[in-house]
Amino acid sequence: MSMFMDLPTGRVLVTGALGQIGTELVEALRQKHGHEAVIATDIREAEGCQILNVMDKKGIKKLMFEEQITEVYHLAALLSATGEKNPKLCWDINVTGLENVIAAAKENNARVFSPSSIAVFGPDCPKNAPQITPLNPTTVYGKTKVVGEELAVTSGIDMRGIRYPGLISYKAPAGGGTTDYAVEIFHSALEDGHYECFVREDTKLPMMYMDDAIRATIELMNIPFEDLSDSRGGYNISGCSFTAGELVRSIQRHLPEFTCTFKPDIRQKYADSWPEEIVDVVAKEEWGWKPRFNLDKIVDEMISNLKK
Ligand SMILES: NC(=O)c1ccc[n+]([C@@H]2O[C@H](COP(=O)([O-])OP(=O)(O)OC[C@H]3O[C@@H](n4cnc5c(N)ncnc54)[C@H](O)[C@@H]3O)[C@@H](O)[C@H]2O)c1
Repeated sequence: MSMFMDLPTGRVLVTGALGQIGTELVEALRQKHGHEAVIATDIREAEGCQILNVMDKKGIKKLMFEEQITEVYHLAALLSATGEKNPKLCWDINVTGLENVIAAAKENNARVFSPSSIAVFGPDCPKNAPQITPLNPTTVYGKTKVVGEELAVTSGIDMRGIRYPGLISYKAPAGGGTTDYAVEIFHSALEDGHYECFVREDTKLPMMYMDDAIRATIELMNIPFEDLSDSRGGYNISGCSFTAGELVRSIQRHLPEFTCTFKPDIRQKYADSWPEEIVDVVAKEEWGWKPRFNLDKIVDEMISNLKK
């Protein structure tokens, strides 16, 4: 018999729902569970989204109890570039905020999805990052994600996560991470014909199209708890890896006049501390992960959707 509740039948809470991932995950969850069953929340105001600050422990518990929430997608966080500018706030939101969600989930017998990141890896990790390897990130952001992965397996609830690579999407702006250049570049290419990139041309990082990331999230949450190992705190999943220069050349297939210059800033340092590629055999074996988008396909989708 299952140690935890079986797969979801109830109502769903999304924190940080107005961000780059939340904007698309809420849509997908509403398709799956029905519009009314998904409560979107954020610290910012918007139509169809309730205000909920993840630092408000009582507020989370009250909302989860009143709405009979059985599944939480906890997306509220500060990302790497923003987080390193304000490490104390990053720790508070990413760790204390998560602890608050876990406490409320425990009381309400709810399952939790909480994203991890490729930022858990540090310079001592092989450039082709395995699932299991020492996690010694140099950024505070990365450290908060390591704590999140540990809490997933020690907190006594059904909690799962994915080490998302840099996510590329067109529906909402990127939220202050080191891989934001791979989103900004499309807007600048179409609007100005030029982009000044904040990492070097040869910087290679793991990336993924948002459709793949959303599908991965929903697929992982569909798997019975018993089928998952302790890697469930943060599964490696690979989309595709490319350099900033390769991204430019793929965009030039559509916009031959597009130019890009490279002016690395502090974010180069974070990028250099992360792996170039991700080994995702564990996610493939445990829950059948398979990406659908390679670099050129991502670029084709981004350009055609942004042109609309
Ligand atoms: N986007 C990526 O490339 C990427 C990569 C790896 C991991 N992740 C992780 O995925 C999750 C979501 O990322 P995202 O890209 O959607 O981020 P984002 O910055 O776009 O969105 C985060 C949202 O959280 C909200 N928020 C901030 N503080 C809050 C608070 N105290 N209470 C409630 N809401 C608050 C913000 O208003 C924002 O809408 C984060 O945990 C992030 O670390 C994202």
